[in-house]
Amino acid sequence: MTNETLETIKKRRSCRAYKPEQITDEELNAVLEAGTYAASAMGRQSAKIVVVQDAATRAQLTRMNAAVMGTNNDPMYAAPTILVVLADANSKNAVQDGSLVMGNLMLAAASLGLGSCWINRAKEEFDSDEGKALLKKWGIEGEWVGVGHCILGYPAADPKPAAPRKPDYIVKV
Ligand SMILES: Cc1cc2nc3c(=O)[nH]c(=O)nc-3n(C[C@H](O)[C@H](O)[C@H](O)COP(=O)(O)O)c2cc1C
Repeated sequence: MTNETLETIKKRRSCRAYKPEQITDEELNAVLEAGTYAASAMGRQSAKIVVVQDAATRAQLTRMNAAVMGTNNDPMYAAPTILVVLADANSKNAVQDGSLVMGNLMLAAASLGLGSCWINRAKEEFDSDEGKALLKKWGIEGEWVGVGHCILGYPAADPKPAAPRKPDYIVKV
C-alpha cells in the first residue's frame, strides 16, 4: 500500500550539500507549521523552534558546533537556514517532544523538495555559557535543552540512497 505521505517518508534523505540561495518564506513557514503540529506529551507543546538565517548567527552556531566535535569542518554544510529545536528542560519529555518536531520538520522539507538534515550537538551548544547568552539575546527565558538543528536549503547534489532496512527491525509477536 502507498500514498503521498508514505512516499515522502521513504524519499526523505539527509542532505549534506546545499545551494547558497535562501528558501522562500512560504517554504520556510510551511516547514515550521508542520513542526508545530507534532504530537507532544500531554499536548504541552514543550518545544520551541528558532529560525536562524542571518550569516553571522549561522557562522556562530557553526563554530560552536564544530568546537563540540573538535573539528574545523563545517558541520552545517553551509545550509542557508538553520532551525534550532529546543525543549523545555523542565518537561519530562523534552527530548521526545523535540525529536518529534525534528521529524516533522524533515518530512515537511522532503515533501516540498527541500534538503534537510538533523545536525546534532545542540545539547552541548545550549548547555554552554555562549549558548545560554544566545538564548537570552533571542529573548528566550527559562531553561532549555538543545534537541537538534534541522538545516534546510535547496539540495546541491543528490543525497545518498537509503541504506537497506535491517532485517530484524520489526518484531511481530
Ligand atoms: C539524532 C540524530 C543525529 C544526527 N546528527 C547528524 C549530524 O550531526 N551530522 C550529519 O551529517 N547527520 C546527522 N544525522 C543524520 C544521520 O546521519 C542520517 O539520518 C543517517 O545517516 C540516515 O540517513 P538518511 O537520513 O538519509 O536516511 C543525525 C540523525 C539523527 C537522527
